[in-house]
Amino acid sequence: MSDRLFIFDTTLRDGEQVPGCQLNTVEKIQVAKQLEALGVDVIEAGFPISSPGDFNSVIEISKAVTWPTICALTRAVQKDIDVAAEALQFAKHKRIHTGIGTSDSHIKYKFNSNREEIIERAVAAVKYAKRYVEDVEFYAEDAGRTDNEYLARVVDAVVKAGATVVNIPDTTGYCLPQEFGAKIKYLMEHVDGLSAGKAILSTHCHNDLGMATANTIAGIMNGARQAEVTINGIGERAGNTSLEEVAMILKCHKGIDVDTNINTQKIYPTSRLVSSLMNMPVQPNKAIVGRNAFAHSSGIHQDGVLKNVQTYEIIDPKDVGIDDNAIVLTARSGRAALKHRLSVLGVELEGERLDATYQEFLKLADKKKEVNDDDILMLAGADRAAAHAIKLDYLQVTTGMGVKSVACIGLDIAGEKFEASASGNGPVDAAIKALKNIIKRHTVLKEFTIQAISKGSDDVGKVHMQVEYDGHVYYGFGANTDIVSASVEAYIDCINKFKK
Ligand code: KIV
Ligand code: ZN
Repeated sequence: MSDRLFIFDTTLRDGEQVPGCQLNTVEKIQVAKQLEALGVDVIEAGFPISSPGDFNSVIEISKAVTWPTICALTRAVQKDIDVAAEALQFAKHKRIHTGIGTSDSHIKYKFNSNREEIIERAVAAVKYAKRYVEDVEFYAEDAGRTDNEYLARVVDAVVKAGATVVNIPDTTGYCLPQEFGAKIKYLMEHVDGLSAGKAILSTHCHNDLGMATANTIAGIMNGARQAEVTINGIGERAGNTSLEEVAMILKCHKGIDVDTNINTQKIYPTSRLVSSLMNMPVQPNKAIVGRNAFAHSSGIHQDGVLKNVQTYEIIDPKDVGIDDNAIVLTARSGRAALKHRLSVLGVELEGERLDATYQEFLKLADKKKEVNDDDILMLAGADRAAAHAIKLDYLQVTTGMGVKSVACIGLDIAGEKFEASASGNGPVDAAIKALKNIIKRHTVLKEFTIQAISKGSDDVGKVHMQVEYDGHVYYGFGANTDIVSASVEAYIDCINKFKK
C-alpha cells in the first residue's frame, strides 16, 4: 500500500502575505471551504498575533471548516503561542506551528544567539505549545541553508519535546533538488524519532530559483510525508511550491509511491477562485492551471493531438476540472445556472447578493456574448467596491490618432457629487489626470498592468495598479469591458484604501 502524503495548504498564510493579495475574513472563509472540498489535510489559516484580522480569520475559518486540521503560525515566543491557541479554540482539529531560524546567519544576525540557545528556545516553544494542543508542528526556518548535522540535532530535540511534524523550509529557495532530497534523507537516517514514527518531516519550499516543486518532490522521494504548498504557487517573493503541480506530478508518476487526498477535479475551480479573490493573475504558461497549459498551437502538435491526444498531452484537462463542455453562461442563462456555476467555483450566493450579482451578470452578458468563470467571479466580488466611500459615477473620454485625449469624470464621494476634466497623452492618462483634479493628493503611479481575461475584443480587461501615497504603496484592482474605466476603477480602489 502507498504511503499517505499530507497536503498542508498555506495559501491563506504564506500566500496571503504577498503585497496586494490580502483577503477579508469572508473571502478567506470562501477559500478555506474550497480547500476543504479540494481535499487538503491542513489549512494554515493565519498568524494570529500578527494582526486582529488574522486572529479573527483563524477563529472564523475554524468555525466554518469541518474536517481539515486548522493550523496557526507562531514564532517561538510564548505570547504568540497563547494567542494562536486562543484563535484555534473552535477548530475541530487544531495544530500550532511554531519555530525559529536555524541557519548560522539567522542565529547570528536575527537572534544574536548561538546554536545551543536556539535548540533550547525551540524545545521550550514546542513544550509550551503542547500545553494547548496535541498536534504541534515545528519549523526550522532557513533549514535549506542549515548544515545537516546541526539540523538533525534540532529535529531530534523538538521531536523528543513532542513535535508531531517537523517542517524543513527552504525559506530562501536556495537548495538544488539533489541537495534538498539529501537533506531529508540525512534527517530520516539520523533522527531516531523519525524512523520510529514519532513525527513526520514536512517540506516547505520557496521558488526563488524556480526549484520549489522539484525540491518538494525530491523531499517526498526521500521520506518527507507532508508537503506545504499554495494554490497557483503564490507566496513571498517568487512564491511557494504550487499545490496543483505536486498533486499532478504524483498522479502522473505512479513510481513515487505516495497518495494524497486531493480531488484533482477541484484544482482548476480553486485556482480561479484564489486568483480572482486575490486579484493575482495566473501566468498564461503556468503548469496545470495557466490559460495555455493545454493549448496546442503548433501545427505538428495539433496534428498529433487530433490523431491521438496522448501524443502531446500527459494530463486530461478534465482531471484538473477544466471542462470544455461546461455550460457557457449567456444573456439567456437564469439565476439558477449562475448560482450553480458560482458554487462549482466555491462561491455560495443566496438572496439579495445573488439577485444583485445576477443583475450585474445580465448587464455584462449584454456586452459580451459568453460570460466565463473569471467574469462571474469578478462580478461576485463586485460588492466589495460597493462599500467604497469614493465611487466612479461616469467617465467620458475622447481620443484618437494624432489628437490629445480629453476626459471628463464624475465621482461620488460619500454621497456628494464632483466633476472634473483634463487632457493627456492617451485616454488613461487623461482620465487619471481628471480624477486627480478632484482628489488633489500627491500620488505616484508605481505599477500598472492590463490583462484581458480570456479572448475576444469584447472581453473584460483587468487592471492591477500600485499607487504610492504618503510613503505607502497601495494596491488597486479594476475590471471592465472598457479598459480606461477599468484603469480608473483600479486607481479609485487604491485611493479608497488610503489611510488618511
Ligand atoms: O518560508 C518559511 O520559512 C516560512 C516559515 C515561517 C514556515 O514560511
Ligand atoms: Zn514560507
